[in-house]
Amino acid sequence: MTDQAVLASKLETGVSQLRCIACGAVGEEGAKSVRCAQCGDLLEVLYPGWKTSAGARAAGLDAAGLKKLWLQRRTSWNALDESGVWRFREILPALHDWNHVITLREGNTPVYQLPSCGRAAGIEQLFAKHQGMNPTGSFKDTGMTAAASFARQGGFRWVACASTGNTSASMAAYAARAGMRSLVLIPQGQITWGKLSQALDYGAVTCQLKTDFDGCMRVLDEVGQRMPVYLLNSVNPYRLEGQKTAAIELLERFDWQPPDHIIVPGGNLGNSSAIGKALLEMKELGLITRLPKLSVIQAEGANALVRTMRETGGKELISVHAETMATAIKIGSPASWKKAVRVIETTGGVVEQVSEVEMALAKAEIGADGIGCEPASAVTLAGLKKLVKQGFVRKNETVVLILTGNLLKDPDFTLKFHRGDLFAGTEHEEEAAEVLAPRQRAPMVLDASANAVVKVLEYAEQTDPRK
Ligand code: F0G
Repeated sequence: MTDQAVLASKLETGVSQLRCIACGAVGEEGAKSVRCAQCGDLLEVLYPGWKTSAGARAAGLDAAGLKKLWLQRRTSWNALDESGVWRFREILPALHDWNHVITLREGNTPVYQLPSCGRAAGIEQLFAKHQGMNPTGSFKDTGMTAAASFARQGGFRWVACASTGNTSASMAAYAARAGMRSLVLIPQGQITWGKLSQALDYGAVTCQLKTDFDGCMRVLDEVGQRMPVYLLNSVNPYRLEGQKTAAIELLERFDWQPPDHIIVPGGNLGNSSAIGKALLEMKELGLITRLPKLSVIQAEGANALVRTMRETGGKELISVHAETMATAIKIGSPASWKKAVRVIETTGGVVEQVSEVEMALAKAEIGADGIGCEPASAVTLAGLKKLVKQGFVRKNETVVLILTGNLLKDPDFTLKFHRGDLFAGTEHEEEAAEVLAPRQRAPMVLDASANAVVKVLEYAEQTDPRK
């Protein structure tokens, strides 16, 4: 990728710094550990080099110039420019050698209007930024290109993660592209086949541990201390830098006029932290003049952040034993909770939780707009409906949902939904039968005759809910 090297060598390196979010100690760049060596808390990337010693904005960071440059890059065939992450490289940590970048041309994901979901929620201007349209089908790719590139630059042979499925799929792909080995720790029986098969296809060493996601994280931390593996979970600060670009792209798509609300699903809370960080940095750089409110929605059965905010005002983490069919966010002890609390508070957002039935209905509603997503992503629409009822989101405000994963990641959920057995034998069975039935479209088994098919068509036309 020599063309990349030429182009990117014009950029300054050494502008950014790793700093502990708790004690402020400056971390060593390229270190094996992704945690603070002094206190063990999380690190974040800060950019002291954005300001000159006189406090002015550093050269090359003029807002109008950056906006023009980033847009121009969409017409370039240079690998760094084709990536919806690296085309924003002026405000990302710089690699010493840009040849280390591993890209699958992630990012540049679409923003769709959701008219019927908007009607269901009572919102006139509702949009979705679909991060499930990334190369491995989830938002993780935007973070993984950054963190995996730093892993390669650091000379690591092994990268590792604990995962509810999407991180492992993404990590395995980027590691394979970089010629690195990857180790995946997943909770046995709790991730979807779609995600598991991706990790296998990309050659990861895959261990299904007899525990939940939080247990996998604990084991991973210990493995990380004993073996020379580099962690690519969202505790890795470079992951969050890459994930910032979803928000930058979104604002670019809105011609830098911020929507009123951005709504994100919350699991380990890396993504909400990253999107919030991007909003604050864009404001600092004068790319936007107003902050959208960033709100985070969790599943009721995996609501550690909701409880943390409500019961301790965001001061102490309340861990929970996680239970939800949205396996992607089945997390009881979110690692990035402090970072998430900070950005929710700074942007004026809120946290909310939704039930399993509310989530399933919202997923079908998104599907009916011709988009589709995985269950964890659908908590955003279910949460929005609640926020509208509470008056926090107003009818005439512009709202963007961040859809985090592709529909095809979890086809089992969708099939069970339409066959009507998603909630069979659970405490929600009765409620589900009533609320979800109008949305269910079970596949039909028929004789191989045109007559049979025509009858079905006629019936569907007579009972069309859109009439
Ligand atoms: N949506 C999807 C589809 C996810 O896969 C995840 C997290 C989230 C939302 C929550 O994002 O953790 O940044 O708050 N999946 C992780 C994984 C944990 O291992 O794939 P978060």
